[in-house]
Amino acid sequence: MKIRNVNINDLEKFIEVYISAYKKLNKYFYRKKRNIKWYFKWLLKRDKEGFFVAEIDDKAVGFIACDANWEGFFNEKIGEIHEIVVREEYKGRGIGKELMKKAEAYLKSKGHNIIELWVGEENYIAIKFYRKLGYKEEGKFGEWIRMYKELK
Ligand SMILES: CC(C)(COP(=O)(O)OP(=O)(O)OC[C@H]1O[C@@H](n2cnc3c(N)ncnc32)[C@H](O)[C@@H]1OP(=O)(O)O)[C@@H](O)C(=O)NCCC(=O)NCCS
Repeated sequence: MKIRNVNINDLEKFIEVYISAYKKLNKYFYRKKRNIKWYFKWLLKRDKEGFFVAEIDDKAVGFIACDANWEGFFNEKIGEIHEIVVREEYKGRGIGKELMKKAEAYLKSKGHNIIELWVGEENYIAIKFYRKLGYKEEGKFGEWIRMYKELK
C-alpha cells in the first residue's frame, strides 16, 4: 500500500470511496455528489499538505483529511482530523490505522501534540476504531462526540 498527498485530480476517486465507506451508515455524511464535491474542495483548501490517499495497485482505497490550522473546541490550536474513509470491501485490513498513523505524524511535524476529531454518536464502528487507537471522548455538540488524543 502506498500513501500519498491528494490533488485536485483525485476528486472522482474521493467521491467513490466516500460513498462506499458510508454506505452502511444512515447518517453523518453527504448524500449528494455535488455536496461531496464541495466537501472535497473544502478539505483540500483547508490543508492540502495534510490530505492523503491510500492506494493499492493504483486503486484508491482510503482517504484521510487533516488540518494543521484548525482552532479546537476549547479555542486552542490543535491538530484536527476532519475525515477518514476506507472503501467498504477494504475495511478491517489495517488501512484506517495506517492512515491515522500518517495523519498523526503529519500533525506532529506541524508542532501539534493534541489531535482532535468529531464522530457521530451512533457511529459505533468509528468510535471503537478511535478508542483502539488511543482517542478519548471529551465534549459533545448536538449528535457529535469530540474525541482527542495526546501524542507522546
Ligand atoms: C472507521 C474506518 C475508517 C476504519 O477503517 P478500517 O480500515 O476498517 O480500520 P482498521 O482495519 O485499520 O482497524 C483498526 C482497528 O479498529 C477497530 N475496528 C475497525 N473496524 C471495526 C469494526 N467494524 N468493529 C470493531 N472494531 C473495529 C479494530 O479494533 C481494529 O483493530 P485490529 O487491527 O486490532 O483489528 C472505516 O470503518 C470507515 O471508513 N468507516 C466509515 C466512515 C467513517 O465513519 N469515518 C469516520 C468519520 S468520524
